[in-house]
Amino acid sequence: MASENKERYVKNKIKIPDRKTYQEVFDHSTLMVLYELMSDGFVDTLEHPISTGKEAKVFKGLQIDGTPVALKVMRINTAVFKKYREYIQGDPRFKTFGSGRKLIFTWTKKEFSNLKRMHKGGIRVPEPITFFKNVLVMEYLEYEGYPAPMLKDIPYDDESLKIIFDDIISDYRTLYQSLNLVHGDLSEYNILIKDDYPYFIDVSQSVTVSHPKSENFLRRDISNIINYFSDHGVETEKEKIINEIKGEND
Ligand SMILES: Nc1ncnc2c1ncn2[C@@H]1O[C@H](COP(=O)(O)OP(=O)(O)O)[C@@H](O)[C@H]1O
Ligand SMILES: [Mg+2]
Repeated sequence: MASENKERYVKNKIKIPDRKTYQEVFDHSTLMVLYELMSDGFVDTLEHPISTGKEAKVFKGLQIDGTPVALKVMRINTAVFKKYREYIQGDPRFKTFGSGRKLIFTWTKKEFSNLKRMHKGGIRVPEPITFFKNVLVMEYLEYEGYPAPMLKDIPYDDESLKIIFDDIISDYRTLYQSLNLVHGDLSEYNILIKDDYPYFIDVSQSVTVSHPKSENFLRRDISNIINYFSDHGVETEKEKIINEIKGEND
């Protein structure tokens, strides 16, 4: 698209009052990324924010046919650069990762690649749509007109929780054994519940099993999950679950 046309297109899309709000929320370069995603047809309008975290903001957007999407906008926040490096280093998929803004772009790309690998491998995750610079566009997980709730917020009974727990472990087993990945930040906050099924989200820090810290990450993930479920009456045994995930009981 010629840049002149693009500008007109973008101006038509973002009306002046909205534009002002966006400018308060996004830095200039993120705005340009959003414009690009809009003019390439991945997103038509931005709706409301779903979540504002330290590292990312997540918005609901709509495609031109009304399909909702989730946009995860990574913040350019130097405080987290060290952490990002730790998770990228040792991952054979990312030989170079840059510094400053480039590091955030690599981080975004990493979340996209992880989502893609998981989605293709049959794990329940939001389907990735595209990414550009520091913005990731993915399937919007919805439940009855609202963003799908986090595991920590669902009303529960012992029986349904046990089923959800088993689904989580079964997906983790596939993640580990077929895809050679560990999630790295799994907890009741990073699992959304949609139609009674758990979906893993927030996979930017997922690393390959060959990463020097993957065993620690796996153990931390499973401890978080087990703590949550045992607090809610689901009996579990950590070592048994870890062996099951690794296939050491087979
Ligand atoms: N695809 C999605 N569909 C619906 N809600 C989402 C989606 N992705 C993220 N969210 C919401 O945004 C929150 C933050 O997303 P997350 O990826 O966990 O980022 P953060 O790094 O801020 O924790 C989630 O807890 C969830 O409520
Ligand atoms: Mg999260």
